[in-house]
Amino acid sequence: MPFYDRDVDVMIDSPKLQARIAELGAQITRDYQGKDLTIVGIMKGSIFFMTDLAKAIDLPVTLELMGVSSYHGGTETTGEVRISFDLTKPMHGKHILVVEDIIDTGLTMQFLLENLGARHPASVKVCTLLEKPARAKTKVPIDYKGFVIEDKFVVGYGLDYGEKYRNLPFIGVMRTE
Ligand code: IMP
Ligand code: MG
Repeated sequence: MPFYDRDVDVMIDSPKLQARIAELGAQITRDYQGKDLTIVGIMKGSIFFMTDLAKAIDLPVTLELMGVSSYHGGTETTGEVRISFDLTKPMHGKHILVVEDIIDTGLTMQFLLENLGARHPASVKVCTLLEKPARAKTKVPIDYKGFVIEDKFVVGYGLDYGEKYRNLPFIGVMRTE
């Protein structure tokens, strides 16, 4: 029996994830024809999504990583975001696609858009695998979206619960007993 069987229910299985990622990749391929695309993946949550998405894009993309963490007052984010791993390349004049695992309150993405915008890129667009609109505290523009989900805590395919469960090959919901 797989280790997660006792505490996680499947929400979006692997074939469904991959089918949607293929569609997003095709759309991004069309939209960035003739442009130099830089994907900025936000660690650690987006790494699985970022690598699968990049493989679904038929363009010579550049991959960069940025790590952010938000301070939590209890279970709620305070909206204070800190860079834990910064980009190692200048973004001046680049066409950036920020790739995130999930947009929940939107505060992390709001911070990222302000921060990246200050580096004078040619353009910045947002791609998120999941969006949880029920908890939005700020409106962030989402250019590419995998799935809209209900207000449940999800894990897997990069998303964690206490740094665990990232390696599940699907998006699951923690079972509350
Ligand atoms: P936001 O700033 O509230 O939009 O939160 C974004 C970050 O919170 C994401 O990048 C995740 O790391 C984390 N997060 C939000 N919801 C979940 C969830 O359901 N499961 C795991 N992590 C989550
Ligand atoms: Mg995250």
